[in-house]
Amino acid sequence: MVKILFFIFVFTLPAAVFSQHHQEPESGYYALVAGGSKGIGYAIAEALARRDLNLILIARNTDTLLAAKNRLESLYPIKVETLSYDLSREESATEIARWCTERNIKLKMLCNVAGLGGAEDYLSLSLDSLRYMVRLNVESCMALSLTLLPLLEKHAPSYILNVASMAGFAPIPEKNLYSATKSAVIFFSYSLYYQLKEKNISVSCLNPGPVFTKPSIVKETRQKLGWIGMKMAVAPNKVGEIAVQQTLNGKLIIVPGTGAKLMSIALRALPRRVAVMIYNRVGKKKS
Ligand SMILES: NC(=O)c1ccc[n+]([C@@H]2O[C@H](COP(=O)([O-])OP(=O)(O)OC[C@H]3O[C@@H](n4cnc5c(N)ncnc54)[C@H](OP(=O)(O)O)[C@@H]3O)[C@@H](O)[C@H]2O)c1
Repeated sequence: MVKILFFIFVFTLPAAVFSQHHQEPESGYYALVAGGSKGIGYAIAEALARRDLNLILIARNTDTLLAAKNRLESLYPIKVETLSYDLSREESATEIARWCTERNIKLKMLCNVAGLGGAEDYLSLSLDSLRYMVRLNVESCMALSLTLLPLLEKHAPSYILNVASMAGFAPIPEKNLYSATKSAVIFFSYSLYYQLKEKNISVSCLNPGPVFTKPSIVKETRQKLGWIGMKMAVAPNKVGEIAVQQTLNGKLIIVPGTGAKLMSIALRALPRRVAVMIYNRVGKKKS
């Protein structure tokens, strides 16, 4: 009996602690998706559209933005605004927040999706490319969360969804800078979850394994991770749906797919020195 009660306590407590919001948002509200014109960002935008949320999509390329807007508005009864910004620029977060405030946008959710990986990493990067990756992957997410906080607070209960990566769970020598930027997003999200709890703003962090949003990711996954990586891959639309569903349920750390989930549990349980050694060996073998 004591054993049964112990199991019930252990397995239900985290769900109770991490699920403060259960309701789906009403229509008339907006979600802002930074990096929402394609890939995982577009899939997240579509999952939000299915729930009748109006959208503000941000990306650099105006043609891709417009195509996403047309597709979403033709499929769902929502309004889609598009803003062309380079999120790595220092001024972007302030200008985006000003645009939203001036229009009195009823902001329910901020999704920080835009990010950059790529085949090149720390030792072969120019200083400009290094700064671009840090600004886009880390600074833009932290800055937008801060500049849009007053609007999210005004329309609470509300949500922040940051997109990190499974690469942020342990250091990867071959992808040093990428995994470092993504671990910064994970740490930031963990703390922000508690900082914003009293304001009734829920913070989630999506950590996908491979998601085939472009051919280069398929090639890299096959080369570096072999069949395990191919098995771990989850389709972009599935990732978007899981991310939105679990964000609305108040889940802090989201890992889509059973394979990726198991891998992420192992990565987080291993001592860092062991995880980094394994990643280093695997990287050397495959290169
Ligand atoms: N795909 C994966 O396997 C995978 C796995 C784990 C984590 N992630 C993370 O998930 C996120 C999305 O990845 P994805 O594969 O979906 O990428 P993607 O297909 O390249 O889409 C990136 C989106 O962000 C926008 N964007 C890129 N740079 C930008 C900038 N400087 N300013 C404004 N917008 C910018 C892009 O539009 P424009 O190019 O027009 O600006 C696009 O809308 C990233 O943070 C990535 O690190 C991806």
